[in-house]
Amino acid sequence: MTVLVTGGAGYIGSHTCVELLNQGKKVVVVDNLSNSSEKSLDRVREITGKELDFYQVDLLDKENLTEIFKKHEIESVIHFAGLKAVGESVEKPGLYYHNNVTGSIVLFEVMAEFGVKNIVFSSSATVYGDPASLPITEEFPLSQTNPYGTAKYFIEIILKDLQTADEDLNVAILRYFNPVGAHKSGKIGEDPIGTPNNLMPFISQVAVKKRPEVMVFGDDYDTPDGTGVRDYIHVVDLAKGHIKTLDHLESNPGFVVYNLGKGKGYSVLELIKAFEKASGVEIPYKVVGRRDGDIASSWADPAKAESELGWTAEMGLEEMCEDTWRWQSENPKGFN
Ligand code: UD1
Repeated sequence: MTVLVTGGAGYIGSHTCVELLNQGKKVVVVDNLSNSSEKSLDRVREITGKELDFYQVDLLDKENLTEIFKKHEIESVIHFAGLKAVGESVEKPGLYYHNNVTGSIVLFEVMAEFGVKNIVFSSSATVYGDPASLPITEEFPLSQTNPYGTAKYFIEIILKDLQTADEDLNVAILRYFNPVGAHKSGKIGEDPIGTPNNLMPFISQVAVKKRPEVMVFGDDYDTPDGTGVRDYIHVVDLAKGHIKTLDHLESNPGFVVYNLGKGKGYSVLELIKAFEKASGVEIPYKVVGRRDGDIASSWADPAKAESELGWTAEMGLEEMCEDTWRWQSENPKGFN
C-alpha cells in the first residue's frame, strides 16, 4: 500500500513517515520545503533503514502533482502540508487561504482524477475556538479566531461536502491538541525557522542557551496557577494515531472526526518545571502580557479515538520533555 504524505518533511509529517515505514507501507512524500528540511527525510531513512520517495513540489503546482500520481499507485493520502504560524496568518490572510485552502483543493482534485478514495486530514483543536466547557468532544461547536484556524475549518467543510457527494470517499479529520516531543532516536524533531511560536520549542531553545528566557504569556488566567493550560501530546503517539486511522479507513467509514490528545491539561509553568527536571537545566522565565487570541484552557476528550480507533496517547509529560531535550541537545541547530 502506497501512502502519499503531503508535508512529510515537516515535524509531524516526518514522525508519521517513520511509523508508516515501520508498518511496511510504501511512502511518497510531497513537500515544498518552505518550512522544513529535506534532511529530516534522510534521518527518517536512517531510523527505519527503509527508502521513501520524495518530490519537492508545491500543492498549488497541479501539473507536477499530477505526475506524482501517475508515477505511483497511491491508495491513501495523509495531508499535513500547510503554513502554520497563527500570527502570520492574521497579517497575511490571503497567503494562508491561497496556500492552505487552494492547495488542498488542488490536491483533492488530483485525488479525484486518479480515484484515490482515502484521506486523513491534519486539522487542529484550534477549530473549537474558546470552548464553553472541558474536556472538548468532537461534537463541540466550531468557531474561528484567526485565518490559520479558519483555513483548517474551511478544509474540513470542503472534505465533508466532497464526501457527501461521493460516498466511496473515506475522510478522517484529525484534530490535534498540542504536539510536542521527538523520536526516541534524537534524529528527528521540531525545527522551527526563526523564533518559535509554540511553547515547547521555545523552552528547548532556552535550554540550549539559544534564547535567554521564556516569555510566559499571562499569569492571570482562570487556571490553577494562572498560566494557560493545554493538552500536550507526544508526536510519536500522534503519528501512531495516523496509522490507526488509515487502518480504520479500510473499513469504509465515510466521514469521521477524531480528537487526538492525551485528555489531560498542563500549565505553562508545569511544562517549564517538567522540562527543567528532564534536562537538568534551569529555564529562566518572565511573565509578560497575554498573547492575543489565546484561551485559558484546552484539553481533549479522546474517548472516541480510543473506542473507534483503538488508540490512546501513551507517553506522559516526562517522556515528552526528555525526548524534546534529546533532540534539541543533540541537534542544537536543528537539521542544519
Ligand atoms: C498554537 C496555536 C494553534 C495551533 C497550535 C499548533 C495560537 C493562538 N494558537 O496553539 O492555533 O493549532 O499552536 O501547534 O497561536 N506560551 C507562552 N510563551 C510562549 C509560547 C506559548 O507562555 O512563548 C503559552 C500560550 O499562551 C499557551 C501555551 O503556552 O497557553 C501553549 O502555546 P502554544 O504552544 O503556542 O500552543 P497553542 O497556543 O495552544
